Amino acid sequence: MNRAVSASILSADFLHLEDEVRRLEEANVDMLHFDVMDGCFVPNISFGIPVLQAIRKTTGMFLDVHLMIRDPYAYIEEFVKAGADMITFHLESDSDPLRTLERIHSFGCKAGLALKPATPAGAAQPFMEHLDNLLVMTVEPGFGGQSYLHDMNDKIQKAAEMRGSRPCYVQVDGGINAETVQEAIAAGADLLVAGSYLFRHPDLAEGVNSLRGSREALK
Ligand code: DX5
Ligand code: ZN
Repeated sequence: MNRAVSASILSADFLHLEDEVRRLEEANVDMLHFDVMDGCFVPNISFGIPVLQAIRKTTGMFLDVHLMIRDPYAYIEEFVKAGADMITFHLESDSDPLRTLERIHSFGCKAGLALKPATPAGAAQPFMEHLDNLLVMTVEPGFGGQSYLHDMNDKIQKAAEMRGSRPCYVQVDGGINAETVQEAIAAGADLLVAGSYLFRHPDLAEGVNSLRGSREALK
């Protein structure tokens, strides 16, 4: 898969979200990463369907939705209708993984499975043929601005081996910056989520290139 950067808007300025989306477009970000938290699956509450709808109205960018909620199956149709291009949910949630993946695909949307740090890569093996994305969390889900868990490098490598030649991203999320991304890429990650690093960067486009490489350099 081509290496891509997905910007987590959890770290954006919510009062000026439209301006933030424009800035991300201009910086050539590949996707917007949309972190949904229900205060139940994770100990934090973020945003949900109306915010996704509003973003969809203002951009044609690929919307990468990460559901950190207890029962993702129940909300798939609403997130698809709100504009999700890919929905990734947690294997540790209460929803049946295969049924949920099939429901996402039934709407023509891409589907992914996310693994918390304590869940081994092998737990996703039975679902590999149904995945467009395998997300290896590199922090405990719930909050932006945490430090990268270096112990996850072996798991990323295992996930990349499991993916093999399938058209499925190996996504990393949490604590990604210009240094930690090198470890993640070396281990086999190709879809790189970053929030606080990008939004704190004085030059957003430079920040994006420091993660993905510039498009020219990648050609
Ligand atoms: C954490 C979220 C991440 C988070 C990443 O639960 O899934 O997407 O926003 O934020 P940074 O890049 O700040 O670690
Ligand atoms: Zn996320």
